Amino acid sequence: MLRVRPFSPQDLPPVSAIVRDALRENYPTSLYLDIHRWWRDGFLVAEEGSSVVGFLAAVVSAPQLARVLMLAVYGTWRRRGIGSALMDAFLKECAMRGIHGVELEVRKSNDSAIRFYTRYGFEITNLLPKFYTDGEDGYKMRRHF
Ligand SMILES: CC(C)(COP(=O)(O)OP(=O)(O)OC[C@H]1O[C@@H](n2cnc3c(N)ncnc32)[C@H](O)[C@@H]1OP(=O)(O)O)[C@@H](O)C(=O)NCCC(=O)NCCS
Repeated sequence: MLRVRPFSPQDLPPVSAIVRDALRENYPTSLYLDIHRWWRDGFLVAEEGSSVVGFLAAVVSAPQLARVLMLAVYGTWRRRGIGSALMDAFLKECAMRGIHGVELEVRKSNDSAIRFYTRYGFEITNLLPKFYTDGEDGYKMRRHF
């Protein structure tokens, strides 16, 4: 059974494994702990049974504006509604906090994520030339409440 709940530091090993698998990044532990400290309810994990299979991490980037820093689901668990469960819980949290907009960046080539976000009412607002360290362009996407 799928459960979405706030991140806790015990989730660090599975969360960093998902980041390696899904985002091909290796971030220091301190980054996750900082994000957790900045906005506890904006860092959510999805648990299937006793395994963490996806997560969403966001910060409040300006008054009433949230920014999704990372959203990822383990490859084998995709297309089962886990990303949606995380996004639904996150948008509910934003509404409770009086957030008026959510922004994020996505690789221009990441069609599946762009489709996912578009389905959630996000729109591309800007092209971000060479936004990623490997030189790929990104899109800024934004959703208003
Ligand atoms: C983007 C991501 C989080 C979506 O998670 P998910 O659990 O697969 O999403 P869901 O099952 O809730 O999908 C919801 C809808 O999004 C769209 N969608 C998701 N993945 C898609 C894909 N590969 N191709 C087309 N549409 C897709 C579909 O409309 C889907 O609904 P459907 O399955 O009923 O057709 C996941 O693909 C992922 O972890 N990708 C790698 C990491 C990443 O790119 N993160 C975003 C970086 S900004």
